[in-house]
Amino acid sequence: MAKYVAVAGKGGVGKTTFTALLLRQVLRNHKDISILAVDADPNANLNEALGLEVTTTISELLEETKNPKSIPEGMPKNVFVEYKLQQTLVESQDIDLLVMGGPQGPGCYCYPNDLLRKYLEDLGGSYDLVAVDTEAGLEHISRRTIPHIDTMFVISDSSARGIRSAGRVHDLIKGLHSAVGEVYLVVTKTTEDSLNSLSEEIAKTGLNLIGDIPLDPLVTKQDLAGEALYVLPDESVAVQAVQKIVERSRIF
Ligand SMILES: Nc1ncnc2c1ncn2[C@@H]1O[C@H](COP(=O)(O)OP(=O)(O)OP(=O)(O)O)[C@@H](O)[C@H]1O
Ligand SMILES: [Mg+2]
Repeated sequence: MAKYVAVAGKGGVGKTTFTALLLRQVLRNHKDISILAVDADPNANLNEALGLEVTTTISELLEETKNPKSIPEGMPKNVFVEYKLQQTLVESQDIDLLVMGGPQGPGCYCYPNDLLRKYLEDLGGSYDLVAVDTEAGLEHISRRTIPHIDTMFVISDSSARGIRSAGRVHDLIKGLHSAVGEVYLVVTKTTEDSLNSLSEEIAKTGLNLIGDIPLDPLVTKQDLAGEALYVLPDESVAVQAVQKIVERSRIF
C-alpha cells in the first residue's frame, strides 16, 4: 500500500520547494521507488519545480464533463469521466504527476468528486509513495479526495507570523475527520539565529520540529532562472537539509 505524504503551509513559505527536494532525496535513496506527486494547490506550480510539462488539470477536465454534449453518445458518464481522468496523469521516468487545478465553477460536483476520490485511491495504490503539495486550507484532505495522510509536513518560513500560521494549520489538521499520522514542522529559509529567535513561537504551536532548511542561494538562483529545483546539485544546503529531514521522518 502506498505511503501518503502531504506538505502544507501558508502561501509562499516553501512548500513546493520542499516537496520537490523531498522527492529528489527519496529517489536518490531508493532508486526503484514509484512516486505519484499530486499538486493540490490551486496555484499549481509543482510541475515546474519537478521539470514536468502539464497540459490539463483535473478541475478543467471536470468542468468539461459537466456539459452533457461532451459525452460521446452511448457512453455512460462515469466511464467517460474515468477515461478523461486517466488523461490528466503526466508520466515521466522518475515521477508521475497529477494536477488538481483551481477552484471549480458553480454547480454540484458531488458526483465527479466521488469519482475523483475513487480514482485517486485506485491510482495511489499502484505507487510506493504519493506526495501531495497542498494549500493551507487543506481542502482536498478535508473533503477526502485525498484518502488519508501518513506523514504531514507543515512548512513555515522564518517569521513569527509564519510559525503562528503553521500552528493554525496544525489545529485544522487536529479537527479533520480523516486520519493524519505523524505531523512535523519544517522551518524554511532560516539564517543563523532563526530557530533560537523563533523557539518560543514554535513551542506554542505544539508541533514537532523535524528540521530547518537554510536560505539557499542555489535555490534562489534556480528559481530566478525558472529551472527545476529537483535537479539542484548535492552541494546545495537546502538539498542537504531535506536529506536529514527525510532520514529523521523515516518516510522511506
Ligand atoms: N531554502 C530556500 N532558500 C531560498 N529560497 C527559498 C527556499 N525555500 C523556498 N524559497 C523561495 O521562496 C519562494 C516560495 O517558495 P515555494 O514556491 O516553494 O513556496 P510555496 O509555499 O509552494 O508557495 P505557494 O503558496 O505560492 O505555492 C520561492 O521564490 C523559492 O525560491
Ligand atoms: Mg507552491
